[in-house]
Amino acid sequence: MELAYHGHSGFSLSVGGKAYYKELFEPLMPGCRLVPFNDLPAIRAIASKRTAAILLEPVQGEGGIHVATDAYLQGLRTLCDELGIILIFDEIQTGFGRTGKIWFSEHSGVVPDIMCLAKSIGGGVCPNGAIVYRDTEQLAGYVNRNPFFHTSSGGGNDISCQVSSKVIDVLLERKLWENAEMMGTRLKEGLTRIMENNASIIKEIRGKGLMIGIEYTQEFMGVLMADCLSNSGIFAAYSGNAPQVMRFMLPLTVTETQVDEFLNRFKKAVSIQRLYLFFLLPLSKIPIVRKWLNEDDILIPVNVLLRKFGM
Ligand SMILES: Cc1ncc(COP(=O)(O)O)c(C=O)c1O
Repeated sequence: MELAYHGHSGFSLSVGGKAYYKELFEPLMPGCRLVPFNDLPAIRAIASKRTAAILLEPVQGEGGIHVATDAYLQGLRTLCDELGIILIFDEIQTGFGRTGKIWFSEHSGVVPDIMCLAKSIGGGVCPNGAIVYRDTEQLAGYVNRNPFFHTSSGGGNDISCQVSSKVIDVLLERKLWENAEMMGTRLKEGLTRIMENNASIIKEIRGKGLMIGIEYTQEFMGVLMADCLSNSGIFAAYSGNAPQVMRFMLPLTVTETQVDEFLNRFKKAVSIQRLYLFFLLPLSKIPIVRKWLNEDDILIPVNVLLRKFGM
């Protein structure tokens, strides 16, 4: 998918949606095609019986928190069934309760053929990843015939697997996806209220459960807000493939008090931005200045300077 992110290594880079990361490593795996996300006609137009697989993040993370619609996922499932294509969901960010269900695929009821899992599988303390596949001749049959084909030095690591096993127990015992759903709604409503009073700064709030993106009106504001929030103790990352979108992935165990505290600090950071915008917006109308403003190397020192003058 355009704007997709599946990692920086070999095959994953080949299906990445940003040219910037790929250029230095070409030639990559041939035959990969990118299409716009959530656009079924675009993928129908190029899919055929010769297509091996369709791969997507059901909520694009690095791409700026774009949530796949149920109709889109159902349409992809039908298309894959018609043409014998493998449907792969990269649930590395969305899995393990993040979006209010254990797997994002549960929202639409669409079952993929392969799911890629990582990140939360290690509970934030131990790196691990897993591939889950359906029991078909094509997939399970292949793995059963070639059980040691995909081994690696770190694969099947004992400590990581112990941690992941415990993570699954805790997730199920505490039904953490329910908290993600409740706290996600509280966070989204709070952010929406802030957006309504700050339309010149925030363009859109979107996401599912505790995977929420804030799209700012200007690209340079992702960097400025990240810096500003860090001063009030909030570590916020803007999206690698869409810098105008900041992602909030609060812990699944977050409490109401913490969400409210977060919203207060975020609101304060937005009011500081209003002051900056008073100067920056007119300047950003000049193309060369806008280009500079979108460079992190320039923007962050300017921000630090402004803060020195107590702004
Ligand atoms: C959705 C998604 N897929 C794949 C990856 C790549 O994982 P790794 O860094 O372990 O290669 C990431 C990493 O951020 C990711 O967010």
